Amino acid sequence: MNVDDCKRVAAHNAADFVQPGMVVGLGTGSTAAFMIERLGERVAEGLDILAIPTSEESGRLARAAGIPLTSFADHQVLDIAIDGADEVERGTLHLIKGLGAALLREKIVAQASRRFVVIVDATKPVNQLGERAPVPVEVIPFGYEATANRLEKMGAGVIRPRRTLAGELLTTDNGNMILDCVFGPIQDVQALAAQIDGTVGVVEHGLFPNMATDVLVATEREVERWTP
Ligand code: 5RP
Repeated sequence: MNVDDCKRVAAHNAADFVQPGMVVGLGTGSTAAFMIERLGERVAEGLDILAIPTSEESGRLARAAGIPLTSFADHQVLDIAIDGADEVERGTLHLIKGLGAALLREKIVAQASRRFVVIVDATKPVNQLGERAPVPVEVIPFGYEATANRLEKMGAGVIRPRRTLAGELLTTDNGNMILDCVFGPIQDVQALAAQIDGTVGVVEHGLFPNMATDVLVATEREVERWTP
């Protein structure tokens, strides 16, 4: 099995957690896309659910798959959210998310969900968060240079705002920018999260400590289910 096969297996396992009548948060990214596709098949077979997507792209995929959508105007509590991650710390299950630039809506949906199921292939688990992935930070465009300076003083390396593949400054679904912060391995995830939260200009960051209720890790041989 290649990485995409593993992502698909994890995604399909997680889609099986969804029961009739549930309100479901739909994550963003290539692994979440497999889950949306599978849920669409289950809806076509008669599964009755409503979903809230975490990005414009996932909303588009859900509509194409025939999944009925709802919003926070009607549902402030979700039964389950299923999403990918960029890193999962073994043991704690703290996460880094946001390389797909959807971290703000992803965190709002995850926090509003009774169960938050994270689906990853075997390349995502790490011993210490920050080993490989930067921490994406969503910031208000106004004064972002000053916000970046403050993050750099916290040890975030030299920050360049994220750009699209075409080389243009990336704008999130919320009209903001992403600053990718390279802190390296993070000793105290909650302390760093609090420090970034306290920075003027920051809207949200991609550290998700103590949020996952289940992590499904698909290897070539099996799907492991980790719980906190
Ligand atoms: C998007 C995310 C994604 O869940 C994360 O980047 C993982 O993506 P993929 O499943 O494509 O590896 O946080 O903001």
